[in-house]
Amino acid sequence: MSMKQIISGALSLALLCGISLFGGMSVASADAISDGKKVAFDRKKGNCLACHMIAGGSLPGNIGPPLIAMKARFPNKADLRAQIWDPTVKNPNSIMPPFGKHAVLTEEEVDLVTEFIHSL
Ligand code: HEC
Repeated sequence: MSMKQIISGALSLALLCGISLFGGMSVASADAISDGKKVAFDRKKGNCLACHMIAGGSLPGNIGPPLIAMKARFPNKADLRAQIWDPTVKNPNSIMPPFGKHAVLTEEEVDLVTEFIHSL
């Protein structure tokens, strides 16, 4: 088991505990959300704006759907993370890059982007 897996395992555990403590409320810290925003908007990292309209981002593309009302569309944060990790699971012809599977982003960066997108 790699250090990354241990850390992400510990993070998921912390999240699970948080969810049971707060009755399903999001426990994302403001720091994780703002760090995730930086990764998502960075043209050399997530570059999500190339294809998605995202609140607070400039010059968005419209190849993908606008990322709005994400909690309603992805009540389960793990499903959102899975979409960012590898969109080809849901849509084998997806042109969205498999950010996790192809190691475009690290485990931690995928976690941070997930927190940010889930806050939209
Ligand atoms: C090259 C274009 C492209 C880039 C870059 C891209 N996406 Fe996508 N994304 C898409 C397309 C197209 C879809 C529509 C579903 C599909 O075809 O897989 C999509 C779907 C999604 C969805 C599902 C939306 C829904 O309501 O079902 C999420 C969430 C998402 N993208 C997040 C992201 C995030 C976060 C990033 C940046 C880390 C990103 N995308 C970067 C093209 C892109």
